[in-house]
Amino acid sequence: MNRLNILTFPDPRLRKKAVPITAFDKELEKKAKDMLFTMYEDKGIGLAATQVDIHERLIVIDLSKDGSDPLVIINPSYEVLDDALEISKEGCLSIPTFQQEVPRAKKIALTYQDLKGQTQKLTADGLLGFCIQHEIDHLNGKLLVDYASSLKRSRIKEKLMKSKDVNNKS
Ligand code: NI
Repeated sequence: MNRLNILTFPDPRLRKKAVPITAFDKELEKKAKDMLFTMYEDKGIGLAATQVDIHERLIVIDLSKDGSDPLVIINPSYEVLDDALEISKEGCLSIPTFQQEVPRAKKIALTYQDLKGQTQKLTADGLLGFCIQHEIDHLNGKLLVDYASSLKRSRIKEKLMKSKDVNNKS
């Protein structure tokens, strides 16, 4: 398994819209495995393919603390079952040190395909529901910073660009 490089804000590639997946083959399986490995290494609970510069509609999620509950979600779409909004406080592996409160649908009905291309359905609320909505935002080129004020957004942009300069020099 390979640890993939995670793009960080404000990398413009994070804004690309991902395309649907049509081939359910070994290559897709490998991408999903590498993404799960990368997510575990970076201690995340969700990762969208966009974040590792793969612009296909593929997401991995694992809310367990021990890597025992991996979920691979392909070509997701959802319907809102309870349109009451809840405030979810979120972070993102592509925006280190940043946290943002986001209004999310309370309960969703997700339809997706698994690695074999079989259609699956899942009803999700709480952390899982928020995480799915966050990752689908990534596939559409949307980021947590888009929910922040422009002042907060420019501050984090400046901070992350500075830390990138430091990294490049070392
Ligand atoms: Ni994220």
